[in-house]
Formats: sequence, structure tokens, C-alpha cells
Amino acid sequence: MKALILSGGHGTRLRPLTYSQQKQLIPVANKPVLFYAIEDVIEAGIHDIGIIVGPSKEQVIETVKSVDWDAEIEFIYQGEPKGLAHAIKVASDYLGDDDFVMYLGDNILREGIVRHLEHFKEENFDASILLQEVPNPQQFGVAELSEDGRTIKRLIEKPKVPPSNLALVGVYFFKPIVHEAVRNIKPSWRDELEITDAIQWLIDHGYRVGWTKVTGWWKDTGKPEDILEANRLILDDIKTSIKVKTKARIHGRVVIEEGAQIDESTVIKGPVVIGRNVVIKNSYIGPYTSIGNNCVIENTEVEDSIILPDSEIRDAGRIVESLIGRGVKIVRGNSHPLGRKFVIGDNSRIIL
Ligand code: DAU
Repeated sequence: MKALILSGGHGTRLRPLTYSQQKQLIPVANKPVLFYAIEDVIEAGIHDIGIIVGPSKEQVIETVKSVDWDAEIEFIYQGEPKGLAHAIKVASDYLGDDDFVMYLGDNILREGIVRHLEHFKEENFDASILLQEVPNPQQFGVAELSEDGRTIKRLIEKPKVPPSNLALVGVYFFKPIVHEAVRNIKPSWRDELEITDAIQWLIDHGYRVGWTKVTGWWKDTGKPEDILEANRLILDDIKTSIKVKTKARIHGRVVIEEGAQIDESTVIKGPVVIGRNVVIKNSYIGPYTSIGNNCVIENTEVEDSIILPDSEIRDAGRIVESLIGRGVKIVRGNSHPLGRKFVIGDNSRIIL
């Protein structure tokens, strides 16, 4: 059994953050989204992992290699993202005759994939997918079940009129027959080789496609609000670990990494994660906040937000529900003309 984790694509809905980094590298609770997928795969006992990389492959490779994984990881270059089934096509030499799990690198699943993999093996399905009921099925691949409810009858990608509220979660199990399916499908209206079409090909040719239901939470981190929601969900499960001495007032579950300096006039209310070498003075860090390494926060309140590494925020009032990129500077000016002064990248969002 192998794993194919997808970390290509453009991430347009997460601009401007994705101008400078792959969306799968955006940290949630100070850990890149992609690492949650790698951990789930390793937890399921899979040690051969191929990671699909796109045009900004160097960053993904460097970030993944910064950790000593208990796995053999290979990087497979896809180039332009021409669809999830296209990713299988470019990985076909790597995957060979093995069964494999395909895991979309921007998905996070609380329960991992162990139970789902067992079901795929026990039932000897040719393919098996994960489903979850959602209120907005139009935004996902959607499944229609067979009469007895055990297998899949039909799959449609982002349907205008969904046949059910069962959305495809970004984890799929396949036997090697999927390679034949991928060879036989044509690009869709959006010029992508769709995985839903490949799975539909299997169903139409008499292969058995099973499914399991995701019972814990699942997040596709495609949009800023999804990243913030994933951050809340992950922080809900953290355990306190404070690696520095501080006289700050700390309530609830809080992680503070080495080298952080937090003064006594600061109040921290968990769940909160604070990275290495962060400096915080006279501030309030409220629930559901993750602060990346080397940030400086002074005379500011931050709540329900993610701040990426190396940012500096001073005298900034109260910041809520925000996703702040790397190396960002938010400070109060004291030279004339006074007023708000911005140097902001394309597609940024400021709500005053
Ligand atoms: O998250 C679940 C949904 O994922 C499913 O319900 C849909 O059926 C499935 O098509 C997919 O929809 P998205 O619109 O979210 O797919 P997206 O284009 O965002 O790609 C998913 C991940 O795969 C993302 O991490 C980027 C990566 N990718 C995508 C494409 C199209 C690649 O690595 N290569 C590609 O060619």
C-alpha cells in the first residue's frame, strides 16, 4: 500500500497568502496543513508516500524535508494542475501495481484514516471514498448511493442540483484498476481530468466502489474562513505545554515554545499556541489564536486569529478573526500626515 498526497495546485481562493507559498503550507495551530495528511498516512501504517508538487515545488520539498518522517517520501512533479485524476496519471510509475490512498493535501480529518482503510481492505472494494453530510453540497463532489446503500451509484463534481448532501471528502482508496479508468476519461468542461469521472468509469464498468462516513470533523482548507475554522478545531484538542518561564497571566490550555518572551502585563487565554522566540509585551492573546515563530506583539489584543512567522504587530488595537501572513508589519505611525498608511499586496482584505 502506498500513499499519494496532493500538494500541487494554485490556491487562488487563499490569495494573497498563496502568492508566496503553496496553500498546503499555511500553518494551522503552527503546523503546515500538509503535515496533518502525512501524519494520518503514517498512522495508518503506510510508509511509501509520494507527494505531488506543482510549480512552486521547492518550498514544499524543503518544508517536508525539515522533518524526520518515519516514511520514504518521494516528490512527483505534476507541473500545471490539470486535475486530481491527472495527478494519478503522472504518479503511475511511482504507484506501480500497488493499492494506494490518495489524500488531498489541503484536507484535515480529525479521526485520521485508519478505520476507513480497514473498511476498504475488509470489503475488498476496487475503490472506496469518504463521505460527510454537508449543508452546501454544491461546493463539493457529491455522491448518490446504491439502493442498498453499501456502494456508490453516481458521483457528480460540484453539481448545481445535488442528488444528496453527501460530499466527497478528499481521501480516496484505490486498487490499480484506477489507472485504466484514468486512461479512459476525457478532460471536463474546466479542462481537468476529474477524479469523480475516473471513479464513475469504475462504477460504469462493473467495479465495486464503497464508502465510509466521516464522523469527526473534516475541513477542506480552501478559503481563509476554513483555515480559521480548522485552527479552532485543532486548538480545541491541544494540551498545555509551556517551555519558558513567564509571569504572564495564563488561563486555559496554552502551548508556548522555547525562546518565547512574554511579559507580566500580558494576559493569555487559551486555547492558544505561541511559537519559538515570539516576544509579547503588554498584550492580550485570546482564545483560538496561533502565533508563528519570531513574531513580536506589543500593546495589542489578538483573538481567534492566525499570525504567520516573523510578523510584527504594535499598538494595533484589537485584531479578531484574522489571517496574517509572514513578515507582516502592523504598527502605529507618529509622523505627519497621520492616517492609515498601507503597503498591501494584491487581493488583500482589510476590514476596518
Ligand atoms: O476537499 C474535497 C473536495 O476536493 C471534493 O469534494 C471534490 O470532489 C474534489 O474535486 C476536490 O475539490 P476542490 O475544488 O477542493 O479541489 P482543489 O482544486 O482545491 O484541489 C484539491 C487539492 O489537490 C489541493 O490541495 C490542490 C491539489 N491539486 C489539485 C489539482 C486540481 C493538485 O495537486 N493537482 C491538481 O491538478
